[in-house]
Amino acid sequence: KHYNAASFSLSAPTLAHCPLDEGWEVAFAGRSNAGKSSALNCLTSARLARTSKTPGRTQLINFFSLDEQRRLVDLPGYGYAKVPDALRRDWGQHLGDYITQRQCLRGVVIMMDVRHPLTDFDLQLIDVATSRDLPVHILLTKADKLKRGPAANQLQMVRNELNKITGNLSVQLFSSLKSNGTADAWDKLDQWFEL
Ligand code: GTP
Ligand code: MG
Repeated sequence: KHYNAASFSLSAPTLAHCPLDEGWEVAFAGRSNAGKSSALNCLTSARLARTSKTPGRTQLINFFSLDEQRRLVDLPGYGYAKVPDALRRDWGQHLGDYITQRQCLRGVVIMMDVRHPLTDFDLQLIDVATSRDLPVHILLTKADKLKRGPAANQLQMVRNELNKITGNLSVQLFSSLKSNGTADAWDKLDQWFEL
């Protein structure tokens, strides 16, 4: 699979430090601790991104190359309360700059804890992405934390909410722990990367 060949490329503190805006990128975003880095690692069968029990671990924009043209991007988590306000504004700024300005961006994967989906921050991010006509795919992470029925209910609830929003939006259950949902996530990435 293409995604196994992913390798770390670089970490950028701001948009100005990102690689040349060429080729295709898919960004992974979400609240701090939602499981972004774990999902990236799971989808690439690698330990590319650092995971942690401490929210706010990923503070830089991290780029992982799949091939010469295609990159996966681990964005800093948002909504983490215990960082100073100034720092939080900076992150929000860099994140916003990246999503609104990056030309090579093909789609945004948003990770949400299946038990706490669609926070205000999540909805803001969806709004920023869809305003640019970017497709958004939501991974409801840590699905292993819920039994089958409650997980299915959460999925349906999120689907219903997304139906009220205009845009190219999709959602699925995902568990990095159990490697559940990888096939559907790969299908979506293939589509965006034209693989
Ligand atoms: P920041 O970079 O700090 O914003 O966090 P993140 O979104 O990258 O989250 P990360 O992948 O580091 O995971 C946060 C915590 O959730 C870790 O303790 C993970 O082990 C746990 N976790 C992530 N994915 C899963 C999952 O699918 N199932 C379970 N049970 N735990 C998970
Ligand atoms: Mg992370």
